[in-house]
Amino acid sequence: ILRRSYNTKALKHSQRSYSYIQPHASYKVAILGAGGGIGQPLALLVKMSPLVSALNLYDIANVKGVAADLSHCNTPAQVSDFTGASELANCLKGVNVVVIPAGVPRKPGMTRDDLFNINANIVKTLVEAVADNCPDAFIHVISNPVNSTVPIAAEVLKNKGVYDPKKLFGVTTLDVLIDADVPVVGGHAGITILPLLSKTNPSVAFTDEEVQELTVRIQNAGTEVVEAKAGAGSATLSMAYAAARFVESSLRALDGDSDVYECSFIQSDLTELPFFASRIKLGRNGVEAVISSELQGLTEFEQQGLEALKPELKASIEKGVAFVQKQT
Ligand code: NAI
Repeated sequence: ILRRSYNTKALKHSQRSYSYIQPHASYKVAILGAGGGIGQPLALLVKMSPLVSALNLYDIANVKGVAADLSHCNTPAQVSDFTGASELANCLKGVNVVVIPAGVPRKPGMTRDDLFNINANIVKTLVEAVADNCPDAFIHVISNPVNSTVPIAAEVLKNKGVYDPKKLFGVTTLDVLIDADVPVVGGHAGITILPLLSKTNPSVAFTDEEVQELTVRIQNAGTEVVEAKAGAGSATLSMAYAAARFVESSLRALDGDSDVYECSFIQSDLTELPFFASRIKLGRNGVEAVISSELQGLTEFEQQGLEALKPELKASIEKGVAFVQKQT
């Protein structure tokens, strides 16, 4: 009896502590690859959002249990599961934000580009379905190599006649999860990740050695996790946190908040490259402005880093574009 009354109290307490999550809006979010290392914790974090009324989880396997598990969290978002290609269209109908963490992750010693052959096809197939079923949605691409999978998504959407460059985002949020506000530009692999430490807010005076060390540390942050997990996965929990932040920012922008800024890899005319990561302002229609001022007044070290990253980023973009064009 004692235990039962304790449990009742605990339940009441838990209902009280979650009562702050009242539905504020009713956006639909779909996660494609929701059964994976990133997908599962991301689904949990998105389930916590008061801006979400429906959370659709898609994977080729193991997603039923994830949805059943999450449905016990008493927050407003209704969770539904969709397994396999035949259920993909239904998963995407009426969705406002689609997040794509589907595909294979790196193992120690692998570069993001080593994932190209498998993930290129997965992203292509999934974005074709997005084009057919929710062409107006914001699309967040997490699957690596982001420097190529975003151009792949763009080509697929162009072929389907529904490409809106303001609504296609490569998720680079993981690169900016540091305590100070540092713009990180370029791409999302190795040297293409360029933190602009001279633009840190609040401003911090680093020595030249500190700038070099911190730059390399930020460029290798994902690789550090891959190596620490020693073959058991890549950065999944921090990535889920980063992706959830980007989802929440997108939903706030869709909901009319006029003060939403994130870094993302997007189609861009900031440099001569067709895609480039930089800080952007998000609005109801996607990218509302590219914050170009951050590329002005770079230090010599940053300017050199920018020039050095361009050939690799250009090649990754062209590889993605060519992958789709040679099949059509
Ligand atoms: P994981 O292997 O744990 O999960 C991937 C999930 O995708 C699995 O559940 C699998 O069944 C599913 N999947 C495979 N083919 C699919 C298809 N055709 N349709 C739908 N789902 C499919 O991998 P993890 O760790 O979740 O990583 C996922 C991706 O995210 C990888 O490509 C990884 O490199 C990338 N990543 C990106 C980061 C970024 O900063 N953008 C950071 C960390 C990882």
